[in-house]
Amino acid sequence: MIRVEPARLRDVEAIQSLVTYWADRGDMLHRTPQEIFELIRDFKVATVDGEFVGCGSLHILGDDLAEVRSLAVRHDVQAKGVGAAIVATCIEDAKSFGLERVFALTYKPGFFEKQGFRVANVMEFPQKVWGECVRCPFFTNCKEVAVVRDLVEREDVSVPLVAVGC
Ligand SMILES: CC(C)(COP(=O)(O)OP(=O)(O)OC[C@H]1O[C@@H](n2cnc3c(N)ncnc32)[C@H](O)[C@@H]1OP(=O)(O)O)[C@@H](O)C(=O)NCCC(=O)NCCS
Repeated sequence: MIRVEPARLRDVEAIQSLVTYWADRGDMLHRTPQEIFELIRDFKVATVDGEFVGCGSLHILGDDLAEVRSLAVRHDVQAKGVGAAIVATCIEDAKSFGLERVFALTYKPGFFEKQGFRVANVMEFPQKVWGECVRCPFFTNCKEVAVVRDLVEREDVSVPLVAVGC
């Protein structure tokens, strides 16, 4: 059974090793152990029979927005629902904080679409672009795709077509 739980400091080495594995293959950004320590409260770890199989993190960027980051599943446990379970936990976490939108920047938009996200314009997330992306070495040549999932029903704000007499 897949379990997804908040990460502990003892998980940092496994998280960093897994992120490095995929980052070396160009699938995600590298994270240093120091970065993971500092962000450990964002991270969730997935286990199967007590064994570490994957990780992901939910990073809050504002009062209505959070980002799924560092999502990675061990190469020998792919396509067994682990990635979906981690994203579902991040979504529940986001809802518990009252967040309205969760987004990701990814090379795997198809995976996120399966989890209820839609492809978006990255400029919908200016706090990410001007707060973080601008410092990234790939800023002017970014190939990641922005995806977003709305967590609240948006009300129809169109003006009703009714005649108002006086
Ligand atoms: C992307 C990744 C996290 C998916 O994890 P996973 O555990 O293999 O995926 P799951 O088994 O939970 O798949 C859930 C669904 O998404 C689909 N899916 C998985 N990877 C996909 C992809 N690359 N493109 C499109 N759909 C994908 C599955 O077919 C499955 O569909 P279903 O619900 O119809 O059965 C995993 O492949 C991974 O770690 N990749 C390397 C690191 C990476 O790219 N991370 C994302 C960076 S944001």
